Amino acid sequence: MGGGKIVAGIIAPHPPHLIYAENPPQNEPKSEGGWEQLRWGYERMRESLEEVDYDVIVILSPHWQTYVGTHFLGVENFKSLSVDPVFPNLFRFNYDMQVDIELAKTIHDQAEADGMAVKMMENPDFRVDYGTIVSCHLTRPDWDKPIVSISSNRSRHYYSVEVMQEMMMQLGESTRKAIEASGKRVLLIASNSLSHRHFTSESAIPEDMSKEHITSHAMHLWDMRILDLMREGKTQQVVDEMPEFIEQAISESDGGSLTWMFSALGMPTYSPLMHGYGTIIGTGNVIMEWQHEKKGGV
Ligand SMILES: [Fe+2]
Repeated sequence: MGGGKIVAGIIAPHPPHLIYAENPPQNEPKSEGGWEQLRWGYERMRESLEEVDYDVIVILSPHWQTYVGTHFLGVENFKSLSVDPVFPNLFRFNYDMQVDIELAKTIHDQAEADGMAVKMMENPDFRVDYGTIVSCHLTRPDWDKPIVSISSNRSRHYYSVEVMQEMMMQLGESTRKAIEASGKRVLLIASNSLSHRHFTSESAIPEDMSKEHITSHAMHLWDMRILDLMREGKTQQVVDEMPEFIEQAISESDGGSLTWMFSALGMPTYSPLMHGYGTIIGTGNVIMEWQHEKKGGV
């Protein structure tokens, strides 16, 4: 077929607090708002993506953790209640999502041909991870685009950050090749926070913004360094410095989503759009968009 394309790539963080603060009808708990800077950031990104024509979302979430290879959702529709295991008081979300099995299988087959261990997840009762749900909802609340959901192989935990990086660089290339062959126009989502040291207790009112701040100055400095590198188009340097970033800032990029997306985008050197930055229970979060087609990316 051919002619497919990655039209944009985004970092879309998934703390359940953002859904809680938005009060969508799908979520049972109700809030008085909160985390507005990040929610306005998502708003700006959604407006920007209105101008991007895409058929399907391809997302890698660190909360679908697999220990033997990379897995892909392989059932056409998932509908259930997702309850956050740490924050059941904030997130009990009724989801109903469509999966583009054809594209999932194409990426799966390409990755397999490229020597990776892969598997299609075909259990209809599988509980989709909340990272995928939160990032997809905040990016596209209408749920009118099918998704491809890719698991996070925990090679970092079994081996090292370096092994994780090599695997995610390969998975990114396989993803790009498969998308090009599919003829589809694709939005990529890396679903992760930056620095990830969080508070260990919750305030009486979770959305009390007088309690919200970055965990430590060191975490702020790490986030700003990574943000600056990304804004300057130095994605290769971000990948090169990732082992230290993960070690020192406990970054959630240890799940591989950022490295995978950069690799799929061909290590972009143009500046991304900065939609917002903010903290959630002390963790650093950015909402950022690489306008890949507009910037003439590979
Ligand atoms: Fe997370």
